[in-house]
Amino acid sequence: MARIIAAAMVLSSRAGLGFRVRIGHAQAMGRGRALWLLAVVAALETGWLLYPTARRVALSVEETPAARGRRLAGELGCFTCHGPEGGGGTKNPGSQEGEVPAFTEQTQMMYVKSTDDVREYILDGAPKRRREDEDYRTRMGAAALHMPAYRNLVSAAQVEDLVAYLRATSGQILPGQDDAAVAHGAEVAIEYDCFGCHGALGAGGVSNPGSFKGYIPGFWGDDYDELVRSDDELRQWLADGKIPRITEHPIGGWFFRRQAVKMPAYGQFLPAEDVAALGAYVKWIRAGSWRSKIQ
Ligand code: HEC
Ligand code: HEC
Repeated sequence: MARIIAAAMVLSSRAGLGFRVRIGHAQAMGRGRALWLLAVVAALETGWLLYPTARRVALSVEETPAARGRRLAGELGCFTCHGPEGGGGTKNPGSQEGEVPAFTEQTQMMYVKSTDDVREYILDGAPKRRREDEDYRTRMGAAALHMPAYRNLVSAAQVEDLVAYLRATSGQILPGQDDAAVAHGAEVAIEYDCFGCHGALGAGGVSNPGSFKGYIPGFWGDDYDELVRSDDELRQWLADGKIPRITEHPIGGWFFRRQAVKMPAYGQFLPAEDVAALGAYVKWIRAGSWRSKIQ
């Protein structure tokens, strides 16, 4: 009896051993496959994380001076006093106006006469002619908030980017009245806040997660030329919020659907004349006769 039990134990342990060996083999194979999978996942993930960098290198990422200036204004704390997007409104007790002035809606007109005045505000806290005025100094001294002098905090190139941004967002760069459609387009564009998405005067660069280049395109240069190849495409963008050349493209379509912010289809809300006027105005911006006014 004891022999039988001993033999059974040997057998079962052998069988167990064999079983264990087989498990080991299966585990080794499983581990190999898992490692492989991990490597693939890691490669995909690295690729994904590197995508923004790769995109920067591979795609012609457009950055206008005004788009850089807007980003810089955020980094330099300008919006803490001048309000979100420079819209003004931060309370300034003790000052004549009661609040810090805006960069937008033609408010700059009351403070600066030229782009040199804008530069002097940034570098020295105010233009020389104002700093030398006794009255002005007394008034400024009475207020809670003061415009800082950024001279030791910014490079010469950064000042130029800030000037480009401040002028582009001033609301003072407008087409004349010679072309009625362009002039009307400018009014409609302001009413519908095109520049909230497309950047100051269409300078572009407002971020758009999930989109092909990572930002909302502007109207100033290459991005526009890539996206708008004809007047008909321009009309489709404005009326339908999309063009078939992109939505039907395998890669373009994927990014089109994925992006967080999409171009609204204004054709459903505006009469055809307004859509046409917007198109004329966008083309006026692209043509760039205003460029000397932001330098
Ligand atoms: C601590 C608050 C504060 C900060 C920060 C600040 N400003 Fe000002 N800024 C003011 C005040 C107050 C005035 C009004 C001065 C006056 O009445 O002359 C002013 C005026 C201006 C003006 C002229 C008026 C206008 O709104 O167009 C410009 C241009 C300007 N600032 C640009 C900037 C820029 C660019 C930055 C960031 C680099 C900046 N400011 C940061 C407080 C500030
Ligand atoms: C909510 C944000 C938003 C608003 C508001 C907006 N757009 Fe757009 N627009 C976009 C986005 C995003 C794209 C790019 C869409 C894409 O690639 O699928 C775009 C594309 C365009 C294009 C194609 C070419 C280019 O370079 O941008 C034009 C032209 C355009 N918009 C004009 C306008 C006008 C004019 C208005 C105001 C009436 C306006 N947009 C308002 C987000 C917006």
